[in-house]
Amino acid sequence: AEYGYDAWLRYRSIEPGERREEFNRFSGIVVEGTDEPLAHTAARELSRGLSGMLGREVSVLEHAGDAPCFVLGRLGRSPIIDGMFPEGEASLGLGREGYALRHEPGSGRIAIGADSDAGLLYGAFDVLRRIGTGQSLKGLNIVERPVNGLRMLNQWDNMDGSIERGYAGSSIFYEKNRFTQNLERLRDYARLLASTGINAIAINNVNVHRIETELITEALLPEVAKVAEIFRMYGIKLFLSINYAAPLEIGGLSTADPLEPEVAAWWRERAAEIYRTIPDFGGFLVKADSENRPGPFTYGRDHADGANMLAEALEPYGGLVIWRCFVYNCKQDWRDRKTDRARAAYDHFVPLDGRFKENVILQVKNGPIDFQVREPVSPLLGAMPLTNQMIEFQVTQEYTGQQHHVCYLVPQWKEVLDFDSHLKGEGSTVKRIVDGTLHASRYSGFAAVSNIGCDANWTGHLLAQANLYGYGRLAWNPELSAEGIADEWIRLVFGSDERVIQVIRGILMDSWSIYEKYTAPLGIGFMVNPNHHYGPNVDGYEYSMWGTYHFADCRGIGVDRTIATGTGYTSQYAEPNQSRYETLETCPDELLLFFHHVPYTHVLQSGKTVIQHIYDTHFEGVEQAGKLAELWAGLSGLIEEPLHRQVAERLAEQAEHAKEWRDQINTYFYRKSGIPDQQGRRMY
Ligand code: GCU
Repeated sequence: AEYGYDAWLRYRSIEPGERREEFNRFSGIVVEGTDEPLAHTAARELSRGLSGMLGREVSVLEHAGDAPCFVLGRLGRSPIIDGMFPEGEASLGLGREGYALRHEPGSGRIAIGADSDAGLLYGAFDVLRRIGTGQSLKGLNIVERPVNGLRMLNQWDNMDGSIERGYAGSSIFYEKNRFTQNLERLRDYARLLASTGINAIAINNVNVHRIETELITEALLPEVAKVAEIFRMYGIKLFLSINYAAPLEIGGLSTADPLEPEVAAWWRERAAEIYRTIPDFGGFLVKADSENRPGPFTYGRDHADGANMLAEALEPYGGLVIWRCFVYNCKQDWRDRKTDRARAAYDHFVPLDGRFKENVILQVKNGPIDFQVREPVSPLLGAMPLTNQMIEFQVTQEYTGQQHHVCYLVPQWKEVLDFDSHLKGEGSTVKRIVDGTLHASRYSGFAAVSNIGCDANWTGHLLAQANLYGYGRLAWNPELSAEGIADEWIRLVFGSDERVIQVIRGILMDSWSIYEKYTAPLGIGFMVNPNHHYGPNVDGYEYSMWGTYHFADCRGIGVDRTIATGTGYTSQYAEPNQSRYETLETCPDELLLFFHHVPYTHVLQSGKTVIQHIYDTHFEGVEQAGKLAELWAGLSGLIEEPLHRQVAERLAEQAEHAKEWRDQINTYFYRKSGIPDQQGRRMY
């Protein structure tokens, strides 16, 4: 296979130093107490992984013999498994997706026990990850359950093969308005995702165009079913993004009004058809009344009316409606200083709390604007105690370097998840909102926009694989550290050389902060070129209708979102966050310009003026980006040349492009403010 294709499932042969002796004694794998396809997937994967890592065939056996072996099995259905887990499910509490791993010193066996076949699959991947990262299995005795129920990816793939905000080639799902013939690639994608714990996927863009509107019709459902079957083999449920105006556009109706009985009947009929073809279909992902997409507003209905009508259609089959909250006025007059896009999601949805049906989940972006390098946490998260919510992250690097720059996003996601909303007192962290515990939600979890395409290494920038890997791992367990996740990914891809691990981990861990330094400063966001969003353009959106402004003039910069003098956005936060953001003195530096308009001479908590901070961080960021390329160059000869080259090229490009950012931003503010750099560095 081409370099990078196997990603973190390389199953690279382990060296004698890496506990090879410990595993050499294992004779094979046995499956106990289940004959389900998912259990066989697990056994096959274990066989494939062990064979690769041990350099000999480790196969699935009919019976456990005397030699040590791996035993995969369902609790309460096999004497061997029950012998190894005598306490049983009642006390282990593994649930629908959990598993237990246990080493039995006497027999030398390693048991993977679960109360479900999905649990066996996750257990198998865990064992492979442990071996692949050089861990011993001696004395192993652990129980694992996913913290989040829904661990989902959203593909923004269009059937013409393009991907909205895709930076790694065209779609692996579609080509020329048809489904791909390359089912092998889909299977490998499913394997990658399942290995990190992903259990749901929406396979088409949230912006549903004409042809994708027909995915829910007889014409295309058989094709959808084939894809669903592939993902099912890996414990992943399939969802479709739908077009709210489908009854009008393809149904021959004259309206898509959710309260019109014929519209509801049309959707019920679609649901019946879908579940006839795909009995375990996940449900619908819906972008409605957002960025010119149709929705209930057209008919004077609200989002609860809109979502509930679909939810009723899916309810008999256990299907879900995932309704996105990315709703704002995208036709704003830039002269209008009252309207604040950051407020929009909260203002639209909070009044609807309590009105959504049980099988509706609101999908809320992590920040109030749009996946910028720095944003506050969305105040909508947790603000609807009677409504299911899930968080939406962006693994694809739309605003964070488009996979030409390295930007490891796990540290950013961790900050969001650890943020304390204080909505139910101290400890009301986002991770507890999203895992459903804070408000005892029926459904909740993670969603994210995927970053893969048909590039051989999946993500274009090889290091961007760490974001996909990390997203899945974090969705499984938000307590994992960003460093620990990076470490796993590096070991699985590059092996056990400590120098290699240390350098790559350093690059990943510093990358977000470096990217932030040479791009939009202090939380202001949106200084990118319109449309494609790549590269610097300070005023690119300043006089546009999109609601993303910085308001820089000769005196100062920033958006006044205070209650006292601004848009009042800070009122959407509970105390003490509200006061912390409202008050200039306590607002964190990194978000200052998101919340306040200040003069360039305003002194930050760091002791620097805003203008000097801008100059300094931009020079620093470029210097550090250059260092990344040097550090990587130092790994030449220590990792396979083709892998080395892929990254070296991108890092060189990043170092150059960072200069463009630095010079445009510094020059812009130097010209606006007339304030020279204290260090007299070059401006233009
Ligand atoms: C961003 C992105 C769009 C996308 C939208 C969304 O605005 O640029 O391409 O459609 O988010 O999340 O719906």
